[in-house]
Amino acid sequence: MPQNKDKPTKSTSGFHLQGLIVTLALSVIPFYFIVYHWNFDNGSINDDKQHVLKYFHDQFNALESIYPSQSSHFWKRSRRALELHLNRSESNTQPAIILLTSARDAEQTLRCLSNKIAKIYSASRNMSYVFISGVNETFHDSDSAKLAIDDILTSSFQGTSSAAVMHQLEQLHPGALLILYKYCDHENAAFKNVAMVLTVLLDDLPHKPQLQLNEIEEKVRDFLAAKFSISNSERLHSEMDADKMGGVWSRISHLVLPVYPEDFLVECGSTEHGA
Ligand SMILES: *[C@@H]1O[C@H](CO)[C@@H](O)[C@H](O)[C@H]1NC(C)=O
Ligand SMILES: *[C@@H]1O[C@H](CO)[C@@H](O)[C@H](O)[C@H]1NC(C)=O
Ligand SMILES: *[C@@H]1O[C@H](CO)[C@@H](O)[C@H](O)[C@H]1NC(C)=O
Repeated sequence: MPQNKDKPTKSTSGFHLQGLIVTLALSVIPFYFIVYHWNFDNGSINDDKQHVLKYFHDQFNALESIYPSQSSHFWKRSRRALELHLNRSESNTQPAIILLTSARDAEQTLRCLSNKIAKIYSASRNMSYVFISGVNETFHDSDSAKLAIDDILTSSFQGTSSAAVMHQLEQLHPGALLILYKYCDHENAAFKNVAMVLTVLLDDLPHKPQLQLNEIEEKVRDFLAAKFSISNSERLHSEMDADKMGGVWSRISHLVLPVYPEDFLVECGSTEHGA
């Protein structure tokens, strides 16, 4: 009888052991799948990022080869800024902002190159870009210009665009220039995972290698200040003053790069979307 008593006890403990194994297995299997899929998802995110960076790299190299007159500074710095921004994926805290400048003799090159850069950045993310020209008279009246640019940028960035070219900033109404506070702020920009490619067409720009980058930066700053007549006694533009201009400038002058004329400018192609 004691043996009979022992048997059920043994079989009960055998049952407990099996139950424990089954319970362990059942709890390990989902854990295994969670870990496996987590790794898998991480892997595919990295693959996407590699794909984005590779596309950018290939296209940027191709661009460099058809614009041989541009400086090595130009390629190195613009590439680095955009690459870092693309690599941070969705975790950027501010937009990538590049300001390109040229003299009148390189107007066409400036226009083409700014479009191409915006196109490559946005296409790397399988998106498009928007083009806004300061020459367009729509942006010459302060009341409507600021609103119009705001509408275009917001609807584009909420839609399929991840880059914007704002060509010939110096032609914008000063009131409209202030919209850059909203889109180029270091901390509170309305859209952070986008690139803003800005251009300023100067009256003249001595060719390399006479000018250093910081001298070019000063030249653009002084040119814009003069253009928007902030010291003009008539105060033509009540919307703009030295403080506001300083505020705009500090937001857009992270990277100011000169563009020089190309002897054989390749056809720009249908690169532009928008105004
Ligand atoms: C992209 O970021 C990762 C870290 O997140 C870094 O290891 C890698 O070198 C970066 N690549 C480029 C091209 O900057
Ligand atoms: C790019 O977007 C289009 C449509 O928006 C989509 O069909 C295509 O698969 C996307 N390509 C990549 C590489 O994500
Ligand atoms: C000027 O801008 C307006 C508003 O975005 C646009 O509809 C128009 O096509 C532009 N004009 C030119 C000549 O690009």
